Amino acid sequence: MVLSAGKPRQQHDFVKLPKTDLHVHLEGTLEPEMLFRLAGRNHISLPWKNPEMLHEACKFRDLSGFLAIYYKGCEVLVTEQDFYDLTRAYLERAASDGVVHTEFFFNPQVFCGNKISLEGIMRGVFSAVHDMRERISCLYMGTVMRTRPVEEALRTLNELAPWYDRIAAFGMGGAENGNPPSRFKRYFEACRERGFRICVHAGEEGPAEYVREAVELGVDRIDHGNAAVHDPALMKILAEKQIPLTMCPISNLRLNLIRDLGEHPLKRMLSRGICVTINSDDPAYFLGYASDNWEAVQRALDLTPAEVLQLALNGVEACFLPEAEKIKLRNDVKTAFPGAPGMADPIVERTARKDQDGFSPLSEMD
Ligand code: HPA
Ligand code: ZN
Repeated sequence: MVLSAGKPRQQHDFVKLPKTDLHVHLEGTLEPEMLFRLAGRNHISLPWKNPEMLHEACKFRDLSGFLAIYYKGCEVLVTEQDFYDLTRAYLERAASDGVVHTEFFFNPQVFCGNKISLEGIMRGVFSAVHDMRERISCLYMGTVMRTRPVEEALRTLNELAPWYDRIAAFGMGGAENGNPPSRFKRYFEACRERGFRICVHAGEEGPAEYVREAVELGVDRIDHGNAAVHDPALMKILAEKQIPLTMCPISNLRLNLIRDLGEHPLKRMLSRGICVTINSDDPAYFLGYASDNWEAVQRALDLTPAEVLQLALNGVEACFLPEAEKIKLRNDVKTAFPGAPGMADPIVERTARKDQDGFSPLSEMD
């Protein structure tokens, strides 16, 4: 698969599909060009001479290799304006990519070595969310690193207290192997006690057992969850409990967790009734925004119109918005698929024929 460097490709039809992006790391939306601009503005030296060299470095061997570069990139974010610019650029890109609702992670732990206060960071992020409110609906999720002690996660949770009314959920990411969700039971319990939804990265590079642990912790969503495909009993539980998986196909490809998108378990899990969703993860580093993920998956897995519709509706079910707002989103998705649920509409049917005759189904929706 060839993807253009660093930008949403946007020449395909899935841009026009009203979509959610429920698993995206704000820090992972830092495009190389902005990264260099901020490094210059803040007088920070980088191990790469120019954005092209950074692009070259973005051929990752695995999750840890990616995270090393990702954390390095975070060092350029030091002022309130930097966080405003980063957030605003992501929201503008997502809105023009057809994302109608996004839920993004942000990890304050990454920035405790930088010179900015948490107040400055949050002001920058929330000002951009406010300024973009007419163009895109947005929820913020705090997240912590599983490679650090649970006490530090609890401290981060407490430090975010002044912004609790603006936070929808808490999660956990970072290098997965050897760092099972169960080790963070106290953190997740504390998040729950404070009334938050909880989610956790599990089964990305780690085993199905980690996904099972996440289920036992009572999470509201599992980020990735791919490994569950190897455990039929667990698949059954995910389907029965309707615990959504926020899957990120291009991320999985870029991190060599799959050799080819044709191997991605998304379609198999969808067929078992699991609430699978499509998301972008770290789009600047993995060279794929939301619509790129939809298009790549549709091409590789030959999704039917009914499956595309189900995935879009799953995004609405899985999001953390109140029901009244979900009703509106559901209608937006169904309007984009006028034939639903009977699938009689020719626009929708042509989505499936796309690869055969090159027809652009959703481009006729204007
Ligand atoms: N996996 C785990 N942690 C992360 C990721 C990811 O893909 N991106 C940012 N933090
Ligand atoms: Zn992630």
